[in-house]
Amino acid sequence: MSEQLPEIEQLGRQAADCQLCDLAAKRTQVVWGDGPATARVVFIGEAPGRKEDEGGRPFIGAAGHLLDELLAAAHITRSDVYITNIVKCRPPGNRDPLDDEIVACRSYLNRQLQLLHPRVIVTLGRFSTHLILQTTAGISSLQGRVFERHGYKVLPLYHPAAVIYDLLKKEPFFAAAPLLDQLVNGEGEMELREGSGVGILNRGPGSASGFPPAAGDPPASSPAQNSDTRSLAQAVGRADPGAPPAEPEQEISAPAEHFTQETLDIWNA
Ligand code: URA
Repeated sequence: MSEQLPEIEQLGRQAADCQLCDLAAKRTQVVWGDGPATARVVFIGEAPGRKEDEGGRPFIGAAGHLLDELLAAAHITRSDVYITNIVKCRPPGNRDPLDDEIVACRSYLNRQLQLLHPRVIVTLGRFSTHLILQTTAGISSLQGRVFERHGYKVLPLYHPAAVIYDLLKKEPFFAAAPLLDQLVNGEGEMELREGSGVGILNRGPGSASGFPPAAGDPPASSPAQNSDTRSLAQAVGRADPGAPPAEPEQEISAPAEHFTQETLDIWNA
């Protein structure tokens, strides 16, 4: 008898031949996501790098190693979390994903979140943070603070690759571990207070955001049909003249000097 895959895995298999954007011609494979369908926390990165493109799993390079360290500090096992990216195929040379690539891939992420219905979403870096929170605010002003969207707790963090590059980001990145621990492992409704970098800042509905509907909402039809054709600039409100300018992201070219030999070895491999 054939094994009955969870729906999220079935969807991943359907997406393996995705041709929705130009990255299809350049990838080795689609990097769909990794983790149990029952995960209570979902980590969302940017796009696969070279290692992930080759290995078919997200965050298996140096950035993934740092993510593992964060998980350990938060008393979370990697096998208990679901990890994916906003763009499922590697952009050539690890360049930033383009707006049309993010828009093309967005319905896959929406469907993943609808199926997983996690308790906590951790956005890694500005691209996934801007997409999920529908903001253009700089990642430094958001990192380590809890937001609420559609009943989900959203915790934006620096991208681990940016942490490897920039020594100043390491302390705030790991300082979020106790909060992550409490969000994921804490019993019942945690009390979130303004201050100390922790607070619920926005409970807005954001129904046009493509964010997953609450339990009980009708499911989306199929990724392609569910695709949002607005430009990403519109989707994240970049055209809003009142919005603060997006924080420039540094190019990741080399790790900072203070990381463990293991992280450096993986980085240099
Ligand atoms: N960086 C990402 O954003 N995602 C990965 O899967 C690997 C590195």
